[in-house]
Amino acid sequence: MKPLVVFYSRTGVTKQVGEALAHALNCESEELLDKKKRSGPLGFARSGRDARAKKLTTLEEITYDPALYDLVILGTPIWGGTLSSAVRTYIANNKAKFKRVAFFCTQGGTKSQPLFDEMEALCEQPPVNVLALQQKEVKAAAYQEKVRQFVDRLQAP
Ligand SMILES: Cc1cc2nc3c(=O)[nH]c(=O)nc-3n(C[C@H](O)[C@H](O)[C@H](O)COP(=O)(O)O)c2cc1C
Repeated sequence: MKPLVVFYSRTGVTKQVGEALAHALNCESEELLDKKKRSGPLGFARSGRDARAKKLTTLEEITYDPALYDLVILGTPIWGGTLSSAVRTYIANNKAKFKRVAFFCTQGGTKSQPLFDEMEALCEQPPVNVLALQQKEVKAAAYQEKVRQFVDRLQAP
Protein backbone atom coordinates (compact mmCIF):
# COMPACT_ATOMS: atom_id res chain seq x y z
CA MET A 1 0.00 0.00 0.00
CA LYS A 2 1.30 3.44 -0.93
CA PRO A 3 -0.71 6.01 1.05
CA LEU A 4 -0.61 9.80 1.01
CA VAL A 5 -1.94 11.87 3.92
CA VAL A 6 -3.48 15.20 2.87
CA PHE A 7 -4.85 17.65 5.43
CA TYR A 8 -5.76 21.24 6.12
CA SER A 9 -5.36 22.74 9.56
CA ARG A 10 -6.17 26.30 10.65
CA THR A 11 -4.84 26.04 14.22
CA GLY A 12 -2.69 22.91 14.24
CA VAL A 13 -5.02 20.23 15.65
CA THR A 14 -5.70 18.38 12.38
CA LYS A 15 -2.05 18.85 11.48
CA GLN A 16 -1.00 16.99 14.63
CA VAL A 17 -3.19 14.02 13.66
CA GLY A 18 -2.09 14.15 10.00
CA GLU A 19 1.55 14.08 10.99
CA ALA A 20 0.97 11.22 13.45
CA LEU A 21 -0.76 9.22 10.70
CA ALA A 22 2.03 9.90 8.19
CA HIS A 23 4.59 8.88 10.79
CA ALA A 24 2.72 5.66 11.66
CA LEU A 25 2.28 4.81 7.97
CA ASN A 26 5.80 5.98 7.08
CA CYS A 27 4.38 7.94 4.16
CA GLU A 28 4.37 11.43 2.64
CA SER A 29 2.00 14.10 3.90
CA GLU A 30 0.71 17.20 2.19
CA GLU A 31 -0.48 20.16 4.23
CA LEU A 32 -2.93 22.24 2.22
CA LEU A 33 -2.32 25.99 2.46
CA ASP A 34 -5.27 28.30 1.87
CA LYS A 35 -4.44 31.63 0.22
CA LYS A 36 -7.43 33.25 1.96
CA LYS A 37 -6.69 34.75 5.39
CA ARG A 38 -8.17 32.45 8.03
CA SER A 39 -6.51 33.74 11.21
CA GLY A 40 -8.03 36.02 13.85
CA PRO A 41 -11.70 36.71 14.58
CA LEU A 42 -12.41 37.87 11.03
CA GLY A 43 -10.74 34.77 9.58
CA PHE A 44 -12.77 32.60 11.94
CA ALA A 45 -16.05 34.24 10.89
CA ARG A 46 -15.13 34.06 7.19
CA SER A 47 -14.20 30.40 7.53
CA GLY A 48 -17.56 29.45 9.05
CA ARG A 49 -19.42 31.48 6.42
CA ASP A 50 -17.43 30.01 3.52
CA ALA A 51 -17.85 26.45 4.82
CA ARG A 52 -21.60 26.74 5.27
CA ALA A 53 -21.91 28.25 1.76
CA LYS A 54 -19.78 25.31 0.50
CA LYS A 55 -17.45 27.82 -1.17
CA LEU A 56 -14.22 26.80 -2.81
CA THR A 57 -10.98 28.66 -2.11
CA THR A 58 -7.56 29.07 -3.73
CA LEU A 59 -4.80 26.75 -2.55
CA GLU A 60 -1.05 27.14 -2.72
CA GLU A 61 0.46 24.75 -5.23
CA ILE A 62 0.50 21.15 -4.03
CA THR A 63 3.67 19.04 -3.86
CA TYR A 64 2.44 15.47 -4.31
CA ASP A 65 0.37 14.11 -7.20
CA PRO A 66 -2.43 12.00 -5.67
CA ALA A 67 -2.57 9.90 -8.86
CA LEU A 68 0.72 8.30 -7.80
CA TYR A 69 -0.74 6.89 -4.56
CA ASP A 70 -3.11 4.00 -4.07
CA LEU A 71 -4.76 5.49 -0.97
CA VAL A 72 -5.35 9.18 -0.22
CA ILE A 73 -6.15 9.86 3.45
CA LEU A 74 -7.97 13.19 3.67
CA GLY A 75 -8.17 15.17 6.92
CA THR A 76 -10.12 18.29 7.76
CA PRO A 77 -11.34 20.25 10.76
CA ILE A 78 -15.15 20.39 10.89
CA TRP A 79 -16.37 23.90 10.09
CA GLY A 80 -20.06 24.66 10.48
CA GLY A 81 -20.82 20.93 10.37
CA THR A 82 -19.01 20.52 7.06
CA LEU A 83 -15.58 20.47 5.36
CA SER A 84 -13.00 23.24 5.54
CA SER A 85 -12.88 25.17 2.27
CA ALA A 86 -9.33 23.95 1.56
CA VAL A 87 -10.22 20.25 1.69
CA ARG A 88 -13.41 20.83 -0.29
CA THR A 89 -11.27 22.53 -2.96
CA TYR A 90 -8.63 19.80 -2.96
CA ILE A 91 -11.30 17.14 -3.50
CA ALA A 92 -12.93 19.17 -6.30
CA ASN A 93 -9.56 19.57 -8.04
CA ASN A 94 -8.26 16.04 -7.58
CA LYS A 95 -11.06 13.52 -7.08
CA ALA A 96 -10.60 12.00 -10.53
CA LYS A 97 -7.13 10.92 -9.41
CA PHE A 98 -8.17 9.15 -6.20
CA LYS A 99 -7.89 5.35 -6.33
CA ARG A 100 -9.07 4.77 -2.77
CA VAL A 101 -9.80 7.20 0.05
CA ALA A 102 -9.94 7.28 3.85
CA PHE A 103 -11.09 10.25 5.94
CA PHE A 104 -10.25 11.81 9.28
CA CYS A 105 -11.49 14.91 11.01
CA THR A 106 -11.00 16.90 14.18
CA GLN A 107 -13.83 18.77 15.82
CA GLY A 108 -15.00 20.65 18.90
CA GLY A 109 -18.14 18.53 19.19
CA THR A 110 -18.93 14.90 18.48
CA LYS A 111 -21.05 14.76 15.32
CA SER A 112 -18.93 13.59 12.38
CA GLN A 113 -21.08 11.21 10.29
CA PRO A 114 -22.73 13.95 8.18
CA LEU A 115 -19.24 15.26 7.32
CA PHE A 116 -18.02 11.81 6.30
CA ASP A 117 -21.18 11.24 4.24
CA GLU A 118 -20.54 14.53 2.44
CA MET A 119 -16.87 13.67 1.84
CA GLU A 120 -17.94 10.32 0.40
CA ALA A 121 -20.37 12.05 -1.97
CA LEU A 122 -17.74 14.61 -3.03
CA CYS A 123 -15.09 11.92 -3.63
CA GLU A 124 -17.70 9.76 -5.40
CA GLN A 125 -16.53 6.68 -3.51
CA PRO A 126 -16.88 5.24 0.00
CA PRO A 127 -13.90 5.56 2.35
CA VAL A 128 -12.01 2.42 3.37
CA ASN A 129 -11.87 3.84 6.89
CA VAL A 130 -12.74 6.95 8.90
CA LEU A 131 -11.40 8.49 12.10
CA ALA A 132 -13.06 11.30 14.07
CA LEU A 133 -11.23 12.95 16.94
CA GLN A 134 -12.22 15.70 19.30
CA GLN A 135 -9.89 18.66 19.60
CA LYS A 136 -9.61 18.10 23.35
CA GLU A 137 -8.46 14.47 22.99
CA VAL A 138 -5.81 15.49 20.43
CA LYS A 139 -4.54 18.20 22.77
CA ALA A 140 -4.37 15.67 25.61
CA ALA A 141 -2.52 13.23 23.31
CA ALA A 142 -5.29 10.73 24.10
CA TYR A 143 -5.77 10.03 20.42
CA GLN A 144 -2.74 7.85 19.81
CA GLU A 145 -4.54 4.55 20.41
CA LYS A 146 -7.27 5.58 17.94
CA VAL A 147 -4.63 6.52 15.36
CA ARG A 148 -2.98 3.13 15.86
CA GLN A 149 -6.29 1.28 15.36
CA PHE A 150 -7.09 3.34 12.24
CA VAL A 151 -3.66 2.54 10.76
CA ASP A 152 -3.95 -1.15 11.67
CA ARG A 153 -7.26 -1.39 9.78
CA LEU A 154 -5.74 0.37 6.75
CA GLN A 155 -2.86 -2.05 6.72
CA ALA A 156 -4.99 -5.16 7.21
CA PRO A 157 -4.89 -7.37 4.09
C1 LIG B 1 -15.10 28.43 11.56
C2 LIG B 1 -15.15 27.22 12.47
C3 LIG B 1 -16.29 26.46 12.55
C4 LIG B 1 -16.34 25.31 13.36
N1 LIG B 1 -17.48 24.54 13.37
C5 LIG B 1 -17.50 23.40 14.09
C6 LIG B 1 -18.63 22.53 14.03
O1 LIG B 1 -19.61 22.77 13.31
N2 LIG B 1 -18.61 21.40 14.79
C7 LIG B 1 -17.53 21.07 15.59
O2 LIG B 1 -17.56 20.03 16.24
N3 LIG B 1 -16.43 21.87 15.65
C8 LIG B 1 -16.38 23.00 14.91
N4 LIG B 1 -15.27 23.82 14.94
C9 LIG B 1 -14.13 23.42 15.78
C10 LIG B 1 -13.00 22.79 14.95
O3 LIG B 1 -13.48 21.73 14.12
C11 LIG B 1 -11.91 22.22 15.86
O4 LIG B 1 -11.44 23.23 16.71
C12 LIG B 1 -10.76 21.61 15.06
O5 LIG B 1 -10.09 20.65 15.87
C13 LIG B 1 -9.75 22.66 14.61
O6 LIG B 1 -8.75 22.01 13.82
P1 LIG B 1 -7.46 22.77 13.26
O7 LIG B 1 -6.65 23.22 14.46
O8 LIG B 1 -6.75 21.73 12.50
O9 LIG B 1 -7.90 23.93 12.43
C14 LIG B 1 -15.20 24.95 14.15
C15 LIG B 1 -14.04 25.75 14.07
C16 LIG B 1 -14.00 26.85 13.24
C17 LIG B 1 -12.72 27.66 13.12
